Amino acid sequence: MLTFSIMEETMNKDVLKVLLSEEELNATVDRLATQINRDYASHAKRLILLGILKGSVVFMGDLMKKVDSSIVEIDFMKVSSYGSGTKSSGAVNIILDIQRKDIAECDILIVEDIVDSGRTLSYLVEYLRLKGAKSVRTCALLDKPSRREVDFNLDYVGAQIPDEFVVGYGLDYDEKYRNLPYIGILRPEVYSK
Ligand code: PRP
Repeated sequence: MLTFSIMEETMNKDVLKVLLSEEELNATVDRLATQINRDYASHAKRLILLGILKGSVVFMGDLMKKVDSSIVEIDFMKVSSYGSGTKSSGAVNIILDIQRKDIAECDILIVEDIVDSGRTLSYLVEYLRLKGAKSVRTCALLDKPSRREVDFNLDYVGAQIPDEFVVGYGLDYDEKYRNLPYIGILRPEVYSK
């Protein structure tokens, strides 16, 4: 009862339903960090957590605190998909490239907030492999497998979710709601106005 009333008071009015609460997000990040530490600790010399701006920032900030600090570095890229008119061509445009120049000794773990068509991550994995990274793996907090347009599977997945418009914990609608501490489903009337 108490939990319900707190949720009612703090939930943004544009959010229809909380899909993942703060507690659930914490537990999810803990689980992913445990898997990552287990997989990399024994052999990685230099693990780069590569956050893809902007949506990954909150997840990245929480995840990096829980990954073994003796091997981890952070870096960021920013990309955008572009196309003609309203339909994306699926092409990916690099706006900010990885800063580290020599990545031959680096194990790169790309950190994303969400995977939808799969085009962004499938492009980035190929791009970083061609650039010479020792290894490239992917981690996303959220996965919408029903939206996939290319054959792409994540190495680390927080949660698979249905095809709903989700915001919060870094994810936006029109640059808003990124600071919500939970993942919520946006009310359809907000984006169909
Ligand atoms: C989102 C998300 C991924 C991409 C996933 O970014 O952060 O980068 O879309 O979509 P895909 O699987 O269809 O390629 P967005 O373009 O919304 O930018 P943002 O992270 O700055 O919000």
